[in-house]
Order: sequence, then C-alpha cells, then structure tokens
Amino acid sequence: MQKWVSELLAWFNSEQRDMPWRDDVQPYKTLVSEVMLQQTQVVTVIPYFNRFIDAFPTIQELANADLQQVLKLWEGLGYYSRARNLQKAAKFVCEDLQGVFPSTYKALMELPGVGPYIAAAIISIAFDTPVPVVDGNVLRVFTRYWGIDDDIRDAKVRKTLFDRLTPYIESSRDPSSFNQGIMELGALICSPKSPDCSVCPIREECYANAHS
Ligand code: ADE
Repeated sequence: MQKWVSELLAWFNSEQRDMPWRDDVQPYKTLVSEVMLQQTQVVTVIPYFNRFIDAFPTIQELANADLQQVLKLWEGLGYYSRARNLQKAAKFVCEDLQGVFPSTYKALMELPGVGPYIAAAIISIAFDTPVPVVDGNVLRVFTRYWGIDDDIRDAKVRKTLFDRLTPYIESSRDPSSFNQGIMELGALICSPKSPDCSVCPIREECYANAHS
C-alpha cells in the first residue's frame, strides 16, 4: 500500500463525521443514502434519510409502499425522479431478483437510477469491493493531487482518474474507507475555493500543494 493511501485511511478513521448510514451498513441503506447524496449535501440529507428509513426499514417495505408516501418523504429534497427510481429499484430487487440485492458492479448498474457513481459507492461501501468512485469531489481532489490540468467536465478525465485510482483502491484493503475518505477529504479539506492544505493527510506528494 502506498504511503498516501495509508495516510488517507488513518485520517478518515479518526476524522470522519458521524452519519447515520455509517452506523449499520447494509446495501439497501447505502442505496438510499447515496441516491439522496447525489444531488444534496450531507447535512440536508441526514434528517431525510432518518425519516425514510423509519418509514421503510427494509427494501421490502419500500417496494410495497404507496408511491405518494414515498414522494411525501422526499418533499424538499427535489429531483423527484430519484424517489420514483428508488422505489422502482426496490420493486426490481424484490420482484425480479427474489429479494437478493445485486452484489456486482455490473448488476448494480441494472437498477433504475443507479449509474457508475452510485454503483461504485454501493459496491465499495456495502460489499467491500474495490471500485473507485469518481464524482465531482474526487475529480477536484485528484486533478489537484496529480497536477492534471484538463477540464474536469471532460468525460476523458473521469476515465483517466478511474483507471489511475483502481490499483490504489485495490491495494487499500478497505475500499469503503478509501472512497469515503476521498469524499470526506473533498468536503472537509480539499474544498473548491479554499483548500486547507496545512492539515491535509496527503499533502506530502500533492502537486497542487507543492506548486502553490
Ligand atoms: N457523498 C456521497 N456519498 C457520500 C458518503 N458515503 N459519505 C460522505 N459524503 C458522501
């Protein structure tokens, strides 16, 4: 394992924020939290996640729920297609997959509303399988870290980072903490406008830190 990887894991272990979906990790709860988090910030999501899980503690309960109740619990989060797709995904798992949650990256992408980002999050967080998550935070952190000056809106950069991060997450032995550690680093330290490099656990070999 590379030194920066172990520094990242150690930092995440001690500094991660409390989030309800980090307490009792189950694929269904990871799906719900990642769908909510895709367009919404952590602090906003927390109460919605708690109310949603109270109402539908299992994927079966979500599959059998009244759509109006699902949408009611989504009120204020916006992007309602996320809620509709979430219930479609629950029905798909319960009705077409006999209630067995998909456990490969490819199979996860068959779920309505699940793309490469959420599939990588679920497979790493709930199944300990090393697939890198590449979202806006990850793009920002690693284009800085490796000094890549391509436009991060370009799909090629996503692919470059996915390929480049793969051997590191594979070496980490903790894919969940690896991916969530990068997300947390992007949120708490390597922020868009004012990164706090002096406390960054991976500043030592960071291109942007060395060239600032
Ligand atoms: N943003 C998206 N997924 C997240 C997670 N699992 N932890 C923290 N922030 C996130």
